[in-house]
Amino acid sequence: MVAGPRMAHSRVMVATTSGRVALITGASAGIGLATAERLAALGWTVVGASRRGTGHPPAWTGLVMDVDDDGSVERGVASVVTEHGRIDALVACAGWGLAGAVEQTPVSDAKAQLETNFFGVARAVRAALPPMRRQGGGRVVLVSSLAGVIGIPFQAYYSASKFAMEGYGEALAYEVANFGIHVTLVQPGNIRTEFTKSRRDVEVVLAEEDSSDPYAESVEKAVGIMERDEQGGAAPETVAATIEKVLHARRPPRRVSVGKLDERAGTFAKRLLPYRVFERAARSSLGV
Ligand SMILES: NC(=O)c1ccc[n+]([C@@H]2O[C@H](COP(=O)([O-])OP(=O)(O)OC[C@H]3O[C@@H](n4cnc5c(N)ncnc54)[C@H](OP(=O)(O)O)[C@@H]3O)[C@@H](O)[C@H]2O)c1
Repeated sequence: MVAGPRMAHSRVMVATTSGRVALITGASAGIGLATAERLAALGWTVVGASRRGTGHPPAWTGLVMDVDDDGSVERGVASVVTEHGRIDALVACAGWGLAGAVEQTPVSDAKAQLETNFFGVARAVRAALPPMRRQGGGRVVLVSSLAGVIGIPFQAYYSASKFAMEGYGEALAYEVANFGIHVTLVQPGNIRTEFTKSRRDVEVVLAEEDSSDPYAESVEKAVGIMERDEQGGAAPETVAATIEKVLHARRPPRRVSVGKLDERAGTFAKRLLPYRVFERAARSSLGV
């Protein structure tokens, strides 16, 4: 292998990061898995949590932890502190997507979406803050989404979970700054992972008054475009590289987007353009 600038950089990082402990939720697949591999290669001690609990010993260890469950998260985080004595970084990556029209989504499905994508993050953060505070600092990376900046039609509750995370993360950052704890929201665009396959579809129950599903065609078109874009999206390793940068930065950013440039440009366009102009331009890429 040619030792280019990247390799030289890696060798430096091994020396400076060895012994730092990272807990990554959602590490059995996709972005979490790529991040676990990357940090472990740089000398971090990595514990990767998921319901499957798969790891890659001896490089990094897996932990069975369901972020939907209070006890599971409390036990999981406590086990990391018992085993390694500290948590320098929490990377909250566990999540999945829900597709369907708002009108047809039962609140129980919406709650399940928020349970993992929002409250799952809140559980992990709440358990990780006390050890971070007592050890004098730490890094919290919340894996949000461009869908936390731009509402995605027919994935409204997925968007809602990420918009919630954005507000929560921003508020949290103020609260913990005095303890040396830094919070960063990482906003990926479309990324090629198991996310597409894991997406859950709302089960449509037609009202007696409706002879056919009024949303069927629109949902299929919009979600189809989304799935195609995800599968043609950036590699999860690009997000892992951004997370690594955040963890090693002297002054980590509050927010950072990652992925294809045209997708990331949407967040700037939304900020700068009048909303009618932005929404007209966004419609075709959102499939509506
Ligand atoms: N892929 C994209 O295009 C994209 C874009 C923007 C943001 N994101 C965000 O990136 C994060 C990671 O997604 P990904 O693309 O890497 O998807 P992925 O390949 O499907 O990985 C999702 C991970 O979350 C874990 N997970 C799901 N529910 C869990 C639970 N209740 N408790 C613990 N772990 C759970 C899964 O493990 P188990 O099944 O083993 O539990 C898996 O390790 C998500 O928050 C997602 O919203 C993804």
